Amino acid sequence: MVDATEWIWMDGKFVKWADAKIHILTHTLHYGTGVFEGIRFYKTSKGPAVFRLKEHIARLFYSASAVQMSMPFTEKQISDAVCELLRKNKVTCGYIRPIAYFGYGVMGLNPKDSVVNCSIICWPWGAYLSSEPLRVRLSPYMRMHPKTTVPDAKICGNYVNSTFASVEAKNKGYHEALLLDHKGNIAEGPGENIFLVKGNKLYTPTKGNILPGITRDSIITIAKDEGMDVVEKTLTIKDLEHADEAFFTGTAAEVVGIGTFEDKPIGNGSFGPITTKLRTIYLDAVNGRIKKYEPWLTHIKK
Ligand SMILES: Cc1ncc(COP(=O)(O)O)c(C=O)c1O
Repeated sequence: MVDATEWIWMDGKFVKWADAKIHILTHTLHYGTGVFEGIRFYKTSKGPAVFRLKEHIARLFYSASAVQMSMPFTEKQISDAVCELLRKNKVTCGYIRPIAYFGYGVMGLNPKDSVVNCSIICWPWGAYLSSEPLRVRLSPYMRMHPKTTVPDAKICGNYVNSTFASVEAKNKGYHEALLLDHKGNIAEGPGENIFLVKGNKLYTPTKGNILPGITRDSIITIAKDEGMDVVEKTLTIKDLEHADEAFFTGTAAEVVGIGTFEDKPIGNGSFGPITTKLRTIYLDAVNGRIKKYEPWLTHIKK
């Protein structure tokens, strides 16, 4: 169960958690045309801070444009509402879920004349994936073909694909799934991007059929700052099998090493040194312990 906080922001107003309800004919509930974000905030020595708020809100607006949704608030209004919500709920670390959706009023596939509603919810949320090396399975589900949707937008309906892959892997006793794209190349996890390590180089699939993660971008920056080469290219299962290390990145998952793929160890099957190093720097950055990454944090003032 989600750990309830006191307030939820709905269309410009704060309402009590238990009163944050919507109509059964909400358009997005039927057709999946909403858009959302997943953001983490962390406890720092200067109080709670949101990690890369600007980039997450920019992606929310990009996703809205992908479903031709005209947002009734500006990026600044949504960002300010996130900060105000954290202040009001007095939570120090956790997860933030802004969502924009076509609301109640019209039915039928075209939401053109529908009202657009926005909400922001926050709650304390610990580790999303196991902190032991992940046992990953090849998903029988393919990452959506880029011509079936807009794959680099965070559209509610896109997550049917992710949910299927995640549930299937977990039902089979694995921590997580890996999805291939329509060409049989590595795409990503259901809610994570993937990196391979070979020597002192990092490899990650190119954009186009993945959700280009904000954690992915942070790890690319950190790795380059650490003097590593980062290569965005088409990757195959063979590349994964022959990698020294592999890890997933995502806001919820953070940075977590892949121990085995299809029951075969990647490298020595535990968190490799580069995964450990990048994970440590990432966690230090999000928790406000590295000065040069301070600009990634939005501190919540009392
Ligand atoms: C399908 C998918 N890929 C990758 C990611 C990682 O993105 P981010 O690092 O922005 O959380 C997510 C999480 O939002 C996701 O849902």
